[in-house]
Amino acid sequence: MKVLITGASSGIGREMARVLAPKSEKLILVGRDVGRLQALEKELSPLCPGEVAGVACDISVTENCVDLHRRFPDVDLLINNAGFGDFGEFSGTSLEKDLSMIDTNIKGLHTLMKLYLRDMVRRDQGQILNVASIAGFAPGPLMATYYATKGYVVRLSEAVRRELRARRSRVRISVLCPGPVRTGFEKTANIGFAFHGADARKVARYALSHLDRFYIVPTAPIRAARLLLSPLPSSLAAEIIYRIQSARRG
Ligand SMILES: NC(=O)c1ccc[n+]([C@@H]2O[C@H](COP(=O)([O-])OP(=O)(O)OC[C@H]3O[C@@H](n4cnc5c(N)ncnc54)[C@H](OP(=O)(O)O)[C@@H]3O)[C@@H](O)[C@H]2O)c1
Repeated sequence: MKVLITGASSGIGREMARVLAPKSEKLILVGRDVGRLQALEKELSPLCPGEVAGVACDISVTENCVDLHRRFPDVDLLINNAGFGDFGEFSGTSLEKDLSMIDTNIKGLHTLMKLYLRDMVRRDQGQILNVASIAGFAPGPLMATYYATKGYVVRLSEAVRRELRARRSRVRISVLCPGPVRTGFEKTANIGFAFHGADARKVARYALSHLDRFYIVPTAPIRAARLLLSPLPSSLAAEIIYRIQSARRG
């Protein structure tokens, strides 16, 4: 199996790479931090029956995504995982960071999904795992841009899943929707979690052993939260999320 993971240099993506290494005939690890990619490549190469390739690539730049696809076409499993958030009132957070988040969480994921899905549809084989978040199911006051980007990922995945079903395609798509996970996410987003975050390795293992599902929601409390949030009017969901996010201040 040929696997490409974005955001493989840290957190959930790195743990997924560790789980997949023994099963992959080619493992492509994408991120920006060359040092961390090289360290992971060195760690995983002896465990992988095929080649492990660390590739420095900023997926927020469209040309980089196009180039990545040109260099590594025809993957069997694309894990669209790279992403980050930012905490604070919308009027106060950095426009530059917001736009970079949109370019990474939305544009980069969208571009790679389209390019690789075309290959997969042509071959009638392959799987895409888009990493969204429980944040993809509700408005997210105090992390408004991040929640909106993850809402995009959920909606895009849901729509494409239906299109694939209509053409009776064997290509599969799944969307991973974790709650808080202990990774580099908190530091990048300038937050402390209101709840104790899940273990990244457990989340990675759970996700990869449930690829037959469309919505993959690790941990029972987050599955319950999703069920509770779904029927609520968005104004009420926003009120609840606002209270939870407020507890993260300071
Ligand atoms: N941790 C949580 O609580 C949580 C909950 C739900 C969903 N998620 C989602 O899970 C995914 C992984 O995040 P994480 O929690 O594992 O955080 P993390 O430890 O900070 O990892 C983020 C990864 O994304 C990569 N990345 C960020 N911007 C990039 C860019 N422009 N180009 C290429 N790679 C980029 C980073 O690599 P470089 O720094 O090397 O570029 C890093 O490998 C994200 O999509 C996040 O939204 C996280």
